[in-house]
Amino acid sequence: MSNLQLEYTRDEILATDRIDEPLVLAGVRCHGGYLDGRYVNPRTRFRKPAIEAWRQHHTETFGTDILHAPLDTWPGSYPNVAQTKFLLREGIREPVIANLTRIGTVEGFGAMLGMMAVPDMQRFFVEDIRGTALDHLEKGLLEAHGRDEGGWAEEAGHQHMWYVVRDLAFESPPVEDQTSLMMERLGGTGGSSADADARRERFLADRMFDDLDASLEMLLAMSARVLFIECKAFHVFRWAQEVLSDADLVAGEGKPAELVGCILSDERPHVGYAEIALTEARDRTFVGLSGKRYPGSDVVGALWDRGLATSLGVLEDQNRAFVLSEIERALAKHPRRGAILEEFHSLGDQRPGSGTTETPPGVPVGY
Ligand SMILES: [Fe+2]
Ligand SMILES: [Fe+2]
Repeated sequence: MSNLQLEYTRDEILATDRIDEPLVLAGVRCHGGYLDGRYVNPRTRFRKPAIEAWRQHHTETFGTDILHAPLDTWPGSYPNVAQTKFLLREGIREPVIANLTRIGTVEGFGAMLGMMAVPDMQRFFVEDIRGTALDHLEKGLLEAHGRDEGGWAEEAGHQHMWYVVRDLAFESPPVEDQTSLMMERLGGTGGSSADADARRERFLADRMFDDLDASLEMLLAMSARVLFIECKAFHVFRWAQEVLSDADLVAGEGKPAELVGCILSDERPHVGYAEIALTEARDRTFVGLSGKRYPGSDVVGALWDRGLATSLGVLEDQNRAFVLSEIERALAKHPRRGAILEEFHSLGDQRPGSGTTETPPGVPVGY
């Protein structure tokens, strides 16, 4: 058995490595920074080695595979790069700007993760959970994730970093009210306590395990869903990097794509801890409120399958419907509306159908 450090304090999990230059773009102090010219992620001084140690320890102890959702589980970004560049060449920028605003807004919803922590996770499991990611969810992991997405203190997180990306690429387009409009169009699933209550109500109406602690089920269901959002985000971020590095179509001299690269690398620990925490829960035994025991594979398996079905179904449909509605809005008075739409669709790998766009319970819409 390796001699791994498996226990970390909350302060350690939240600690950032040394930097010699902060990340400041367009006057906005973003999180992370540079050391010897290399980008340093925020809050990963211990978090990265911790995730690695928990993964290794689990493999050595249980000998099981760690849960993983391969990137090709999801279709590529909609719109794709060719469709987006076509719109920009036609001078139709608003839908692309709206998409960047939406990505930032959705990232901002991640700030609520810090509030979802459940104390004393040991009481829900038969087996020991010391020295696991599961045990560290409330000891900094969820808090670190929330801060990465929503920002913390003076430092902007991913939400505002995407707005910086947008403003550099499109030279501060007029978007004054877009964030609140976006919230409205996305169904008001924001971070206020009323929104949190509404989210919880909807979740409670659709629980899968009545005998499990509701906060625990909500946390695990959310972890699976957030993991899928994070995985799918890699497609979206690569789309953004490719579009935004085309100096003929966007401004900012490559800075927007560079900033997307920083955000992308910040996301890896989010996937890393969620995968291992769900795996640790899967390979243990849950204790229900009645005292009855449930194999972790049944609980995590069901939450995983439902989260994945939501991600591939309703969220995909919702994303495509949103994108298309923004394009139609931008083209409403365009003299070549029909021809542009036709060309746009012909460049696509997917064409939005008539899927439902109802928001699933307890979850903000994804990318
Ligand atoms: Fe993020
Ligand atoms: Fe993330």
